[in-house]
Amino acid sequence: SLVRGTELFAAARKGHYAIGAFNTNNLEWTRAILGASQELNLPVLIQTSMGAAKYMGGYELCQQLVEATIKSMNITVPVVMHLDHGNFEAAKAAIAAGYNSVMFDGHDLPFDENLEKTKEIVALAHSKGISVEAEVGSIGGTEDGVTGEGELASVDEAKQLAATGIDYLAAGIGNIHGQYPANWKGLNFDRLKEIADAVEQPLVLHGGSGIPQDQVEKAISMGVAKLNINTECQLAFAKATRQYIEAGKDKVGKGFDPRKLLLPGTNAIKDTVKEIDGWMGTRPVK
Ligand code: G3H
Ligand code: ZN
Repeated sequence: SLVRGTELFAAARKGHYAIGAFNTNNLEWTRAILGASQELNLPVLIQTSMGAAKYMGGYELCQQLVEATIKSMNITVPVVMHLDHGNFEAAKAAIAAGYNSVMFDGHDLPFDENLEKTKEIVALAHSKGISVEAEVGSIGGTEDGVTGEGELASVDEAKQLAATGIDYLAAGIGNIHGQYPANWKGLNFDRLKEIADAVEQPLVLHGGSGIPQDQVEKAISMGVAKLNINTECQLAFAKATRQYIEAGKDKVGKGFDPRKLLLPGTNAIKDTVKEIDGWMGTRPVK
């Protein structure tokens, strides 16, 4: 069933575990993420970037797709429908479309403006029972056209954003969207500790794909309760699809049927979600 994220993630931070937040792009992605979560009996957050929502046909369609898929698949675990890295307009549009949770990502604005706009989104979202994620510092690299310099989060700014009443906070702590370069220095645990000490809200670790498992587990033990994963599923989908085509399976029988062609990639996303959820310490739903 669809729920907001506030209570789920607060409980996760308190219990020192994290809940997976996976990006979707279409029906296959949505079914794979929801199916994996149901099989593991785990709560899940399913999110669309602004780019994915545009690709899929708008926020209302995304919300309705997730809601209808939950119903048709008899999904009983808690599901949060979330906007990932939204600008001000996107956050308002997702709220109007009935999302349960929105990220207002103001990292590219002067901090005072990020703070003011976060306050506005919190007031609007909370008046409708919708959760809000804000961003302090920035995530390196680019995701769906949203680029960050990887600026380390300031503890003072984190406190100010937390005071707006946001439900969870994404902090730049050396994490990067997309694939990590070979010379990556790792997560900045000193800064993560300072932020976790200063802020009560659950923390969000973006750029979850490719961070070594021990670093993710350490981050979770320190206050990270939401782990964002996108690239890992994209790589798995592309690899399985390539293998299917390179093996010539699209040339055998009706192997070119889109329902057959998309199946290996869809199963690979499901396996990826199950693998990540399996090790990252998420506790089963009671
Ligand atoms: O907002 C989404 C995540 O931060 C995804 O990052 O593509 O590196 O897994 P990733
Ligand atoms: Zn992100």
